[in-house]
Amino acid sequence: MIKYFTIENNFFGENSPKKLLDTYGSPLYVYNEQILRRRCQDMLSLVSYPKFIPSFSTKANSNVKLLQIIKEEGLYADAMSPGEIYVLESAGFRPEEIFFIPNNVSKEEMSYAIDRGILMSADSLSQLETFGQINSGGSVALRLNPGIGIGHHKKVITAGLDTKFGINLEDVEIAKDIISKYNLNLVGLNQHIGSLFLDSTPFIESVKNLLDIARGFKNLQFIDFGGGFGIPYRKQSGENPLDLKQLGTRLTSIITSWARDYGQDILFKIEPGRYIVAESGILLGTVHSIKENGGITYIGTDIGFNTIMRPVLYDAHHDIEVYRDGNLLPSGKNDKKVTIVGNICESGDIISKDIELPNIKLGDIIGIIDAGAYGYSMASNYNNRLRPAEVLIENGGQTSLIRRRDTLDDLLRNFTLT
Ligand code: LLP
Repeated sequence: MIKYFTIENNFFGENSPKKLLDTYGSPLYVYNEQILRRRCQDMLSLVSYPKFIPSFSTKANSNVKLLQIIKEEGLYADAMSPGEIYVLESAGFRPEEIFFIPNNVSKEEMSYAIDRGILMSADSLSQLETFGQINSGGSVALRLNPGIGIGHHKKVITAGLDTKFGINLEDVEIAKDIISKYNLNLVGLNQHIGSLFLDSTPFIESVKNLLDIARGFKNLQFIDFGGGFGIPYRKQSGENPLDLKQLGTRLTSIITSWARDYGQDILFKIEPGRYIVAESGILLGTVHSIKENGGITYIGTDIGFNTIMRPVLYDAHHDIEVYRDGNLLPSGKNDKKVTIVGNICESGDIISKDIELPNIKLGDIIGIIDAGAYGYSMASNYNNRLRPAEVLIENGGQTSLIRRRDTLDDLLRNFTLT
């Protein structure tokens, strides 16, 4: 029995996918404010330890309106680049609410954060040395590689042996030397072991590892365990969500007793990106062609990999729904095996391969479920396609355009031709 995300969550409310595309055009990112707020609240209440704050990982979705909502809910944010800092500040985040966790940045980029009073974490000895040279006596955090990595694909595992991220544990003493050489004030430790876990055991192990190391540092103000909190992308086949209750209980008990032993009032942080925004977003597109080739039925849509990269880049699965005349087409005995493709000039431009869907006709609308994280934020103008518009279904049910579609003029904006 296939589950329908939009029905279970009343995702579109009074706004049918057809009405939305008629009003705002296709393809279109649609977000649901209620779901976004609920996910923020899940993370805020994850543990019962009093000094705990989730920071939203901006790279997952940097739409300013969504960031404003996330800020309103009380989350902080992490930034990977000056661009993300800039956008976060426009959304109202204050410097002390932003944590800069870059990788391989220039002195100028470091200074961008330092000049704004935004705390930065160094993720290599070399970056720590550079930081010390330009900001001697300043406060800094260290991103450590706790030795355990996880993730839904090897490209998103960010700790362990095979990764460019973090300071290795055997280098911690050298890091301490650099810190004293430049008279730096080490205020926090952070890690991020990878993206998407649904079984929290490896995450908990990495938390314990980081806390063991943290004992060797005096006067820390915070410890940040990173993100990676997964969502079930295969809801239609019954995949279960992350057991937040179990994770929260384990985490609460570990951090509470650690803080007691450490003997100091310490802040704990996490950096969820996907968990906060993935389920609040659906990408809608339109079927423009249907063809058979080599026994495969290709459903040709306007959802090219310029609009959503995840399936092509990571072979990632997204559940799919089909809508016609404003209604969801339920699956049934006439379902057909099809391959959903986009409009980009590459054979790899495949959204979903060999899936059973109701008998699709030209003009039908395709919904890519759980597209709110790493969807628009990884979209591009490849093939000189225009990036989609983004629309928010507000709490009251009304819709508002929160980012306009690119225009043809946008494609020429950066050229210096006369
Ligand atoms: N903190 C740091 C330092 C990170 O590098 C990341 C993600 C996060 C937090 C948030 O991770 P999350 O909670 O969203 O799993 N584009 C890929 C995911 C790349 C994640 C990169 N770093 C995807 O679409 O699956």
